[in-house]
Amino acid sequence: MITQEDIRTFDVDQIRKEFPTLAREVYGKPLIYFDNGATSQKPQVVINAIEHYYTFDNSNIHRGVHHLSQEATAQYENARETIQRYLNAPLSEQVLFTTGTTGGINLVASSFGEMLTEGDEIIISAMEHHSNIVPWQMLCERKKCKLNIIPINEAGELIISEFDKMLNERTRLISVTHISNTLGTINPIKYMIDEGHKVGAKILIDGAQSVQHMPVDVQDLDCDFYVFSGHKVFGPTGVGVLYGKKDILDSMPPYQGGGDMIDKVTFEKTTYNVLPHKFEAGTPNISGGIALGTAIKYLAEQDLVAIQKYEHELVVYATEELSKIEGMRFIGTAKEKTSVISFMVSDLHPFDIGTLLDKQGIAVRTGHHCTQPLMDFFNIPGTVRASFAFYNTKEEIDFFIKALNRSINMLR
Ligand code: ALA
Repeated sequence: MITQEDIRTFDVDQIRKEFPTLAREVYGKPLIYFDNGATSQKPQVVINAIEHYYTFDNSNIHRGVHHLSQEATAQYENARETIQRYLNAPLSEQVLFTTGTTGGINLVASSFGEMLTEGDEIIISAMEHHSNIVPWQMLCERKKCKLNIIPINEAGELIISEFDKMLNERTRLISVTHISNTLGTINPIKYMIDEGHKVGAKILIDGAQSVQHMPVDVQDLDCDFYVFSGHKVFGPTGVGVLYGKKDILDSMPPYQGGGDMIDKVTFEKTTYNVLPHKFEAGTPNISGGIALGTAIKYLAEQDLVAIQKYEHELVVYATEELSKIEGMRFIGTAKEKTSVISFMVSDLHPFDIGTLLDKQGIAVRTGHHCTQPLMDFFNIPGTVRASFAFYNTKEEIDFFIKALNRSINMLR
């Protein structure tokens, strides 16, 4: 349990020392890691948690009477409780371990989706990641439902008046990203949740880009589902979380069949386990779940208000400095924006810029960022994306701007 006294004073130099990857070099240059939207680096405590599990506690959970299994089970369930507290979920059984954001969305599309009937409607937005588009397209094809897309404006903000018009008594689910991975736009999800509920729809929030940047309180939001990935919140890959309201999760059919998710199996009929096990068939990513708990505890100990302010300063500073470059075109200029900057420079190909930055030790992402419809909207092949975390610095941004100018001069 983290109390107010446990919250650390934000100190970027100290934090950087806790992330071993940040100290390495790439091509003989200090690494500048600006690809946090894709995945974050891991603090030593998370790396230690994985190593500790495999060194001392490795065994299967929820199965053994033996000591090791009981220890591993306790650690796994403690991790669930740490995440429950962090999200302010009422019960730990509402926190389901998944393989990641994609896994969580597919679970809901498959299981909740099973309860939809022909003519039902689902709403997503034009700025969704492919993982929040394709599962709904597959569901709509399977169940003959209608998929409505909230359009965006040139700044990369949702046109909320269009969302309002889409809502009707056939709207069963709204699935929107909290923060766009490509544009950095922070969406007005509280308003959307409240309006969705007025027509009886359920709301899923894709939190893949938000949990690492801001406090999230699922009860305050009143969302029906909230999903995120472990690896973007300083935890391991291959594990994530789906939070759901208990009555909705209870009403949903199981997703995958197998061990652990059953109550009793006979060849005539199988009955299912209670939450969270009903949705966790098979041996899970045990070390991943435990280490995700460690990552969330690490995050909970940080001063998130100071971090939000610091990350905002980074994005404002980087935007100012980038604006001075001739031919700079920002993709995503929303008023409410987090620490993601996507851009193009004249007609230079993002891939060429990214490759030259890499040679100078700078990691950015280039391409469509798994948001091809967004690229079509802006009529571009892709962008260069710099995405910051709380361990990045203004000095790194200065170095990045110099390296970017050098790259542009080489390409022009
Ligand atoms: N969704 C991740 C990104 O935006 C992979 O880069």
